[in-house]
Parts: sequence; C-alpha cells; structure tokens
Amino acid sequence: MVYSQAKVIAGGLAHIPIVIGIFYFIMTFFNKRAIEYAEANKPKKVEKKVEKPQIKEKTVAPTKVEAKTEVQKPTSDSPEIKTETPKSKEIPNIEKKPMKKHADVPVNIYRPKTPYEGTVLENYSLLKEGAIGRVNHITFDLKDSDPFLNYVEGQSIGIMPAGEDANGKPHKLRLYSIASTRHGDNFNGNTVSLCVRQLQYEKDGETINGVCSTYLCDIKPGDKVKITGPVGKEMLLPDEEDANIVMLATGTGIAPMRAYLRRMFEPTEKEKNNWNFKGKAWLFMGAPKSANLLYEEDLQRYLTDNPENFKYTKAISREQQNTKGGRMYIQDRVLESANELFNMIENEKTHIYLCGLKGMEPGIDEAMTKAAEEKGLNWSELRPQLKKAGRWHVETY
Ligand code: FAD
Ligand code: A2P
Repeated sequence: MVYSQAKVIAGGLAHIPIVIGIFYFIMTFFNKRAIEYAEANKPKKVEKKVEKPQIKEKTVAPTKVEAKTEVQKPTSDSPEIKTETPKSKEIPNIEKKPMKKHADVPVNIYRPKTPYEGTVLENYSLLKEGAIGRVNHITFDLKDSDPFLNYVEGQSIGIMPAGEDANGKPHKLRLYSIASTRHGDNFNGNTVSLCVRQLQYEKDGETINGVCSTYLCDIKPGDKVKITGPVGKEMLLPDEEDANIVMLATGTGIAPMRAYLRRMFEPTEKEKNNWNFKGKAWLFMGAPKSANLLYEEDLQRYLTDNPENFKYTKAISREQQNTKGGRMYIQDRVLESANELFNMIENEKTHIYLCGLKGMEPGIDEAMTKAAEEKGLNWSELRPQLKKAGRWHVETY
C-alpha cells in the first residue's frame, strides 16, 4: 500500500494525543506513589503532656510543679484473709485497667540548686534493746516552705548532707522514702518523716559510716537540713477504697508501707483523709531480730483494731529458720502463703508493693515463680502483665 506524504503527516499528528495521554498517565501514577510514600514516612507528632498540680484532700497549700522526675543513680501472726477468687487459671482482665497517669502528683518542687532548708523536729531510735545497727525516725518541719513542699504517700524526698566530698564538692543528694502520710505524723499537713538506717560496713579492718545516713541519724531537733523533691510515682496507692494491698518489705523498706498503713488504719489520719479503706492489707516484713522490728506497736494496734482487713507476717532472719535450716527471709514466708497470696493476686483489685534491699528481688522472684506454679500460673508471664496493669510496684535500693 502506498501512502501520500500528506496522509503520513496526518497519521503521525493523530498519534500525538495518544503519546501525551500515555505520558500523562505515567506522570500521574508516579506522582501519586510519591505522595503516598511521603505520607507514610512523615515523622509522627508527639503529644506533650503538661503536668498540673492538684492533690486531692488538700490540707496543704498549692504549689508549682515541674514535670521532670529526678532519680538517684543508683511471719504469720494473724488469721487468714479471705478474698474473692475467680475460678479460672487465667488471670482475668489483667490488662483491662490502663496505668494511671498520676498527673496530679507533685514532683521536684525543690531541686538540688535551690533546696528547701527544713528544720528537724524530732529524731529518735526505732530499735529496741539488743537490736542490730541504728535505725531512726526523723521528722522535718515544712511549714515555712514557699512554694509549699507537699507530697503523697509512696513518694521520696532527697536529702543533701552538710559538708563536702573527697573532691571538695558538696555531697550529692540521697533519696529516702517518705514514712509519713501527706498529713504528717502530727496530722497538720506540714511535716515529713523518714525512716533511716545508718549504713555501716567494714573495709580493710576499718568501720566505714555512710555519709548521708550517718548525718541524718546524728542531726538534732532545731538543725536545718537541705531537702529536695518530692519525687517518685512508682509506689503510689490506688484510689480505690476496696483495693487489696500486699506489701513486701525488708528493713527500712517499711517506710512507704508505714505511710500506707497509717492512711488505712490510723483513726485521726482516717478522719483527715476521708479514704475509707475496705480492702485487705497484708504486710510481709523482714528484720534481722525482733528488736529490729520497726513501728511494731502501731502495727499490733492496727491488727487488733482491724482483724478483718490487716494481716502481718514476719520473717525474723536471725531468730527463725526456713525449711532448709537457713535464715528466714520474706520470700520463705511468701512460699508458705503461696495459695492464699495468689488467690489475692488473681483478684484484679490487688496491688503488690516491694520495698527495701535490692538483694531480695531475685529471692522474691524465685518464690513467686514457685508459688505461681502451685496455682498453675506462669510468673514470668504474669509479672510483666501485673506491671503493665500498674499493680506491681518496686522500689529497692
Ligand atoms: P554512702 O556514703 O553514699 O555510701 C554508700 C556506698 O558505700 C555505696 O555506694 C557503696 O559504694 C559503698 N558500700 C555500701 N555498702 C558496702 C559494703 N557492704 N561494702 C563495701 N562498700 C559498700 N535508705 C534508708 O535508710 N531509708 C529509706 O527509706 C531509703 N529510701 C530510699 C529510697 C530510694 C528510692 C533510694 C534510691 C534509696 C533509698 N535509701 C533509703 C538509701 C539511701 O538513699 C542511701 O543510699 C543510704 O542511706 C546510704 O547512703 P550514705 O550516704 O549513708 O552512704
Ligand atoms: P540478714 O541480715 O539476717 O541476712 P535490716 O535492713 O534492718 O538489716 O533488715 C533487712 C532484713 O532483710 C534482714 O532480716 C536481712 O537478713 C534480710 N535480708 C538480707 N538479704 C536478703 C535477701 N537477699 N532477701 C531477703 N531478705 C534479705
């Protein structure tokens, strides 16, 4: 077939829109993909939360609050407590409750550069004759602090000991768990109390005294002490009045537990806080000797007055023996009470608090593993779930 020149030109021109169309289609396709890719890889916006102070049961002045938290680098005597237990081997709804944000809890009202100088009100030994070491209860006056140094149960404060370190620099702060409720030991809402054990150890035949713990055990009423904080949201109590609270403490680890127990059972404190605790509280307490048991008279009074709501189990390491003939530790008591304890843990209203010697953690973990096995549960799966649900609270040092 023979085409004229005009026909060839006309035919060629007729293909132009087709070529443009294909070209347009390709461009559109690649543009769309490019936009999709850019969208998918766009950096996500991070929502910033601003903490605002607002503490319930305010008997204390409001205060300025900053968001960042400083962290220091760091025996069965009462009747069985009955709790309602679900029958299944699964822990029900364990992750149902989201972790509370505790946005209204005060932190870092006072920092190391501008600490509050509190006055010592009292400083007395908590030990009985024949006890080992030195453990004191120390109370500071906070009433002149401005902004007011308020806190809630389960928090800690920092103490900056007087003097300088070996390099001529001021000593760094040490953290101490608060042993009083927010209303203070005198219920006026303007004091804070600590429970401090003097650190003492032998090195090359010499006795070494801990800097801050010795400073604190030696201070006298009227002395001024640099205080920072409060800090910490790990050991806060739940708001629910029908929560169950299991407490595992060694030595001065009793400090936050003392605050919880006062909040639950101390009559004048209860009038102040309006928190009508209706759950079960179970304290496992480890001490070397009976004379080392801390706050014992108060605890016995709470037992007498609240037999249905409080259980107190002691492990007195140097006076009692475990089944293997070794020192009796709280993890041995946990094992003895495995069934009852896990009945409580299976209840989603139960929180567990661990405070005191860091060294007890592996032992507690081992005991919980065995105790869980007896109930057909797996502790290594259960513990992170409890943590995520905000029911497993640990502060060891
Ligand atoms: P330092 O002079 O600082 O000496 C401690 C150092 O001595 C250690 O770092 C280690 O290097 C060395 N040392 C310690 N023991 C030995 C040993 N056996 N052999 C050789 N070297 C050793 N303490 C309480 O008494 N009550 C509380 O309520 C409390 N709550 C705390 C809460 C939190 C959140 C934290 C983190 C700690 C808490 N502590 C509490 C511990 C407290 O902060 C101090 O660490 C403790 O008082 C010792 O401080 P210090 O200045 O006396 O000792
Ligand atoms: P022990 O010192 O007899 O070995 P305190 O702080 O007043 O000394 O009390 C701490 C208590 O904790 C003591 O009874 C101590 O026992 C005990 N304890 C020491 N090490 C552990 C551990 N690894 N697990 C549990 N309890 C411990």
